[in-house]
Amino acid sequence: MTAKKILITGGAGFIGSHVVRRFVNRYPNYEIDNLDKLTYAGNLENLRDIEGAGNYRFVKGDICDASFIDQLMNTRQYDGVIHLAAESHVDRSISGPDEFVRTNVLGTIVLLQAFRQYGNTATGRFYHISTDEVYGELGETGFFTEETSYKPNSPYSASKASSDHFVRAWGTTYKLPIVISNCSNNYGSHHFPEKLIPLMINNILNKKPLPVYGKGENVRDWLYVEDHAGAIDLIFHDGKLGDTYNIGGNNEWKNIDIVKIICQLMDEKLGHSAGTSESLIEFVKDRAGHDFRYAIDSSKLQNELGWKPSVTFEEGIERTIDWYLSNQAWVEHVTSGAYQEYYKNQYQENR
Ligand code: NAD
Ligand code: DAU
Repeated sequence: MTAKKILITGGAGFIGSHVVRRFVNRYPNYEIDNLDKLTYAGNLENLRDIEGAGNYRFVKGDICDASFIDQLMNTRQYDGVIHLAAESHVDRSISGPDEFVRTNVLGTIVLLQAFRQYGNTATGRFYHISTDEVYGELGETGFFTEETSYKPNSPYSASKASSDHFVRAWGTTYKLPIVISNCSNNYGSHHFPEKLIPLMINNILNKKPLPVYGKGENVRDWLYVEDHAGAIDLIFHDGKLGDTYNIGGNNEWKNIDIVKIICQLMDEKLGHSAGTSESLIEFVKDRAGHDFRYAIDSSKLQNELGWKPSVTFEEGIERTIDWYLSNQAWVEHVTSGAYQEYYKNQYQENR
């Protein structure tokens, strides 16, 4: 597609900020608007390096606010929407599902309706960024493909599955030009420290217990966030309308093994004796409905669009740890205030 005016939602969050940065740097001729409500997970510090770029504009707003979204879409008449705004944390969806339904389901419908009415539906597209969690869980073997049935288990994944269905329905019913991708666990810089990897790094730095759910046997397929942003770029421009693409790192780890790798690297970087950080590991009450294993088959994306991950896990995890060590002011900023209350509720009760 020949995109000109693009709306990226949720661009102040973890993955969104990497997508915004990539598009602003690679496409100087595009006009890129980043629409974000700046919830606890959104942070304009994530975008300081590009905030003055001529092809970039930040718009503060809520995707659930239909009159605001209508006005924005009417004024801008976007050629493309890359929709990332969401409530993204599974544990928060278990303790408070309402906001997940509001933002992830209703907010997505508001955007679909507004793009349908005001967007460039002739040559543009609506691209929904989704998760592999919609497929449910795997046993010891097998992979999720684009044909795997949906079987979401958490309020978060149910809300994302629902939004995927609405996006596809708008494609079929209203012929809206849509595309969807479902990605595995991302890691990298600017990851909010409620998620496994940055939480462990931050707790090691603060000599706090490292809470591993259950026995730490659950498996996730980790992808470096910039490789996800690269896949999003490719699918936005070349993905087949109406199609779904799975994105994954082919990089499966048991949680306990990933925590031990982080412990070892942190000991080396902090000059601690071997085993110092591992001694902080605590096995805590398991997450309710905890999916056992996720693993993505991304051969469709690889074969049809020529994508493949470019950063090995060894490189990516080291870059990630180095980023956190060099950006302690960022960590302090995002973990002050409401994070402390969240942490207390989530982890004191789970001991
Ligand atoms: P995040 O929580 O870091 O960021 C979400 C962003 O959305 C924040 O900037 C927040 O302020 C914004 N937002 C939330 N509610 C909003 C609303 N009502 N209106 C406008 N903005 C709002 O999330 P993330 O990890 O960057 O995930 C981004 C997207 O990618 C989500 O849709 C998520 O489901 C999907 N995804 C994430 C992963 C992962 O590993 N993190 C993997 C696959 C898919
Ligand atoms: O698979 C893609 C999904 O990955 C995304 O759609 C979600 O937005 C994203 O948050 C992520 O979901 P997970 O639940 O897999 O990520 P999280 O970092 O919360 O947990 C990773 C694994 O680590 C999971 O098995 C639970 C476990 N865990 C997590 C935390 C926060 C722990 O053992 N201890 C913890 O303190």
